[in-house]
Amino acid sequence: MDYDLLIKNGLAILPTGKKKVDIAVKGEKIALIGENLSVNAKEIVDASGKIVVPGAIDVHTHLAMPFGGTVSADDYFTGTRAALCGGTTSIIDYPCQRKGNSIKETLKPRFEMCEKDACSDYSFHCAITDFNDGAILKEMDEACESGITSYKGYMVYKKEGMMVNDGQIYQLLLRCKEVGAILNLHAENPDILDVRAEQFLKEGKTSPWYHYLSRPEFVAAEADKRAIFLATHLNAPLYIVHMSDKEGLEAAIEAKKQGYDIRIETCPHYLEFTNEVYKRENGINFVCSPPMKGQESLEALWKALNEGYIDTVATDHCPFQLHEKLWGKDDFTKIPNGCAGIENMYPYMLSKANEGKTTFETVVRVCSYNPAKIFGCKDKGSLEVGKDADIVLFDPKKEFTVSVKNMHSNYDHTIWEGFKCHGYVASTYLRGTLVFKDGQFLGKRGFGKFIKRERYHGK
Ligand code: URP
Ligand code: ZN
Repeated sequence: MDYDLLIKNGLAILPTGKKKVDIAVKGEKIALIGENLSVNAKEIVDASGKIVVPGAIDVHTHLAMPFGGTVSADDYFTGTRAALCGGTTSIIDYPCQRKGNSIKETLKPRFEMCEKDACSDYSFHCAITDFNDGAILKEMDEACESGITSYKGYMVYKKEGMMVNDGQIYQLLLRCKEVGAILNLHAENPDILDVRAEQFLKEGKTSPWYHYLSRPEFVAAEADKRAIFLATHLNAPLYIVHMSDKEGLEAAIEAKKQGYDIRIETCPHYLEFTNEVYKRENGINFVCSPPMKGQESLEALWKALNEGYIDTVATDHCPFQLHEKLWGKDDFTKIPNGCAGIENMYPYMLSKANEGKTTFETVVRVCSYNPAKIFGCKDKGSLEVGKDADIVLFDPKKEFTVSVKNMHSNYDHTIWEGFKCHGYVASTYLRGTLVFKDGQFLGKRGFGKFIKRERYHGK
């Protein structure tokens, strides 16, 4: 049998651990993995000195998202192009239901955009904002059958009309459990943060620092704990998105230890930055929700990551242009919430492994293996025979400084500006096709395929 591609001599991070192996690809799939393979292949790539990892799956993006009075800066073309250039070969995006629309109506335009534009593989979670007299709950089973097996509830954004209340969360948890889906919750207390924000504005406290102070640690922790309380009492699976605070994290870990199916996601920006960023001159650029927290939370997140309690790392990629961020220069509540990260996640995490802050195995687990497992992407998430040949060669010797100028997105600034990566993605393969090499995007608009996801099977 002849192969299409043979990647030789790399140090691969396999589900069984680190090993120097060769990987042969036939068509879109990994066909053979072994030591010193002597097989014919149309193309042979020498990966000596490289670390070979599965493509990352960014399970939290907001591409072309109408939000904060505008639309997020990356669409499905630029966002997925940037993803591939950072070694992320699949994304799961968050279309948000418009009042009165069904799940199908919410996703239809998104499917159309992705079919035309997506360079990476993709799927969707659906953010629910309106039950439509119960029609949404009924529709969830059929939607799961079509591969949409996760849903989102925002415990915040009341004024924006995106919030779900406790009664709705209760129903969503139960319905997800019933149909084989998982509920993803954005956990912050909406009432407390609104009261605090109004009070600060009245007092003339308008800078980005007050974005943090309006929703500090306890405001997130209260909602984390409420969500965990409900999920554990209902014995329903729960996925908490972008965990940022120590107290909520500890509550989630405690529930996990008791055997409950609580999943924890965090993001690179909570691992790298603290609330001090809001005191910087360009603090406005860092405004996202939840905001970055104090050093104690950052350290707790790293500890939990290294102890295996954090299930996934994802980006919450939702960039806005500088002039849009500046709408809130005299009122932090007017700053569109969200930051960039889609091209930075895997290089950041792999660079941290290279420095010894974590391990390559942990990075692969939280950025690829677990995202695939939790969200039912059965052909993704590991270097194994039969899986899609989504393969990244990471060069541990390459020094790379992030700048808006060397990214492949559509934004005009990034919170990662100046960040030095110790090691960088050298090339990315998506289903066996080379889509990024040495700084150059080589993929194609529309090459991305929909990932029809399996129902949630539990931990
Ligand atoms: O600040 C953020 N995260 N913006 C995107 C919307 C959300 O809250 O997920
Ligand atoms: Zn988000």
